[in-house]
Amino acid sequence: MAEAKPPDNLPRHVAVIMDGNGRWAEARGQGRIAGHQAGIDAVREVVRSARERRIRYLTLFAFSTENWNRPRLEVDELMRLLQRYLRSELDELHEHRIRVRAIGALDRLPRVVRRLLDRAIADTAHHDGMDLVFALSYGGRAEIVDAARRLARDAERGEVDPEQIDEKVFAAYLQAPDLPDPDLLIRTGGESRLSNFLLWQLAYSELHITPVMWPDFGPGDFAEALDAFSARERRYGLTGAQVRDRSQGGAA
Ligand code: IPE
Ligand code: IPE
Ligand code: MG
Repeated sequence: MAEAKPPDNLPRHVAVIMDGNGRWAEARGQGRIAGHQAGIDAVREVVRSARERRIRYLTLFAFSTENWNRPRLEVDELMRLLQRYLRSELDELHEHRIRVRAIGALDRLPRVVRRLLDRAIADTAHHDGMDLVFALSYGGRAEIVDAARRLARDAERGEVDPEQIDEKVFAAYLQAPDLPDPDLLIRTGGESRLSNFLLWQLAYSELHITPVMWPDFGPGDFAEALDAFSARERRYGLTGAQVRDRSQGGAA
């Protein structure tokens, strides 16, 4: 459903597909791993930028279910970088009252990553500055199937009446049901696809695709994405005239 926009037309929830690390490195004659390492700095930067712009929810697609099929060495290195990030950033996250969360098939993560992640989530659970959601080992279809399975179980037990299932009931079975849908999706690296990210939640998000490779994505690029968002008219199926009427307080 249409959510009220914050007064200055900023998104409440920004989701980011952080793509292009490998190409960034290859363009410099380096291995893909160097791109992932450089990508960590861009993560730090985007968290800062989002916080400074008072974005309430930031979701970062860091590793997909499909990414498990990459070469073993690359997967291992990504898991190592994730550990390093969780160890090195926790102080700054605390300082700025950032709440760490995660969605995805987290049970597939190596135990040490899982432990650091669980600790970051538990230690920051009381913060209310910004929710920083990591999509890890995440796949949109898997999330929807998992929700359907749990809903079916509850129906079987008589806890849910199938006739009462609507979008709201279903969405409550997704992984972080309290999050509003992303208002803005940013994808770096130039590809025009969703790559199985938040398939349910992105139904009406504004898309901003930039050719900038993730390691190069800085505060200026983030500001540009927010500016582009502010200039959009979100119509949710209505006519432009209806939308403008409503925003002036008139009847549609
Ligand atoms: C995004 O960069 C990082 C992850 C998917 C983990 P890529 O590694 O996909 O970089 P490209 O798309 O190959 O350049
Ligand atoms: C999407 O990037 C996943 C992440 C950014 C974590 P990919 O590089 O895996 O996507 P495809 O393969 O180009 O669709
Ligand atoms: Mg990629």
